[in-house]
Amino acid sequence: MDEVDRDTRGAVTTLSADRASLDEFAQHAREAVDGWLDRALPPAASEPATLHSAMRHSVFAGGKRIRPLLLLATAEIFEDDLEPLLPAAAALELIHTYSLIHDDLPAFDDDDLRRGRPTCHKLFGDAVAILAGDALQTLAFEQLTCAAAALEHPRRWLAASAAIARAAGSIGMCGGQCLDIEASGRALEFEDLRSVHAAKTGALLAASTEAGALLAGADADATARLAGFGRTVGLAFQVVDDLLDVEGTLEELGKPPGSDSGRDQPTFVTHLGLDGARREAEDLRDQALELLAPFGGAAQHLHALANLIVERRA
Ligand code: IPE
Ligand code: IPE
Ligand code: MG
Ligand code: MG
Ligand code: MG
Repeated sequence: MDEVDRDTRGAVTTLSADRASLDEFAQHAREAVDGWLDRALPPAASEPATLHSAMRHSVFAGGKRIRPLLLLATAEIFEDDLEPLLPAAAALELIHTYSLIHDDLPAFDDDDLRRGRPTCHKLFGDAVAILAGDALQTLAFEQLTCAAAALEHPRRWLAASAAIARAAGSIGMCGGQCLDIEASGRALEFEDLRSVHAAKTGALLAASTEAGALLAGADADATARLAGFGRTVGLAFQVVDDLLDVEGTLEELGKPPGSDSGRDQPTFVTHLGLDGARREAEDLRDQALELLAPFGGAAQHLHALANLIVERRA
């Protein structure tokens, strides 16, 4: 993975060159993260086999791995060897997958399909799905704390772990999910909707870039700038998720479109319309890209990820 695209560092890249280079980077990174996840998760047949099968069902269902990619592409600005950071990249994906399992439960969005497969609770029942989410979250922090104990720079690992824990908790993802559920069927001021989206989705994407910077030894200014980039593309990510809930197809998304309108959920589309939400996502992307300017070509993959997040169809 660390060999990827070194020769293009520092070059002024066009959007299409960016994208080709990102594809190669992303393919290597996804293989490495998936390999790490496979080693970290207990085998499906090991007891309790139902729980381990449920965890593996949801983790290996073909997610985009955007959060690990953000962490690795951020760290790459400062660090050539990304291999030691895989436990952190995997931890983000474990937390994200847990959040999706719980988000699909009848008590939340009550969705039947995720990543093109039946949702965890549809196959394994609500109780096992709840436990699978719980166990994925604890496995994430096991990865982080074991890395802190075993690897170089334990303080960096502890700082990254704290940032990820904060982002996943009551002032981040869980808090946003709580506000999101409470908003269902109600009108929400636009600024409140922004706060919900920033918390439920933006916080974990911000933690991905912040952790990447912290683990790679970036200074405080660069770390704050990169966390800001993650926060901004994180909000754009959820705006696009709202758009795709209206414009996307089941085949593209691997999850049923119309989930938001089915629950009378306030979204960026209900507030701004399709064109307005699309413009908002593009404005956020542009703001995020400005934050990358000081890093030049070293941030080319982050730059391309911001474009991918806004242009994606899945
Ligand atoms: C979907 O996340 C849920 C949101 C936070 C909007 P992703 O679109 O990253 O889902 P996967 O991981 O690719 O399935
Ligand atoms: C969920 O938002 C965000 C999470 C923290 C899981 P959504 O409910 O819009 O996500 P999807 O559309 O089901 O993936
Ligand atoms: Mg939801
Ligand atoms: Mg949902
Ligand atoms: Mg959605």
